Amino acid sequence: MTTLALFPTLVYSGALRGPRWRALNARLLRECRQLRADDAAGRRWSARNYPGGYTSYGSASRMHTLSPTFAALTAALDAHVARFARTLEFDLTGRTLALTDCWVNIMGRNACHGLHLHPLSTLSGTYYVATPPRSAGLKFEDPRLERYMAAPPRRAGARRALRPWVLVPAQAGRLVLFESWLRHEVPPNPAAGERVSISFNYNWF
Ligand code: NI
Repeated sequence: MTTLALFPTLVYSGALRGPRWRALNARLLRECRQLRADDAAGRRWSARNYPGGYTSYGSASRMHTLSPTFAALTAALDAHVARFARTLEFDLTGRTLALTDCWVNIMGRNACHGLHLHPLSTLSGTYYVATPPRSAGLKFEDPRLERYMAAPPRRAGARRALRPWVLVPAQAGRLVLFESWLRHEVPPNPAAGERVSISFNYNWF
């Protein structure tokens, strides 16, 4: 007897490596905080749309074109995205996956970001710059949830691949990649310090 595991949902987890990532990460952290200080329009946008936190999503969402530090980060991300695309077995013959948007998120205690997806993109992800102890992770939802009409719940100890929600921890220096249609959220952040991350979208051209 055989049970097939069909239509898997792949989520990539990786880390920046090499001797220079700590220095790059320290520069990114300084620039994220400086951006918040300089970006009055972004702070206003965040007050309406991102309670308890700051995001440059509505004001400065192409940071890779404005800052050499962010450009260096996205060059490192490209290698991870290429690896993930190979794992997904995308046929990109004659086409390329390119970063289109890249923005800053700073979440204080209890800030959260409700369930959403990233429309008009192919792959999305987040790189973690600062994650004080107990920082909220990234919670993914089973994309077939609304079809589970008469399905019983899963056991509390069910293996991860079978759970309806999976929380991927946030850890500075690490990144998470996923297909942009996959719904996700950041639950209320219990950490006392600021959780700083950089999110991004890739599209294929
Ligand atoms: Ni998102």
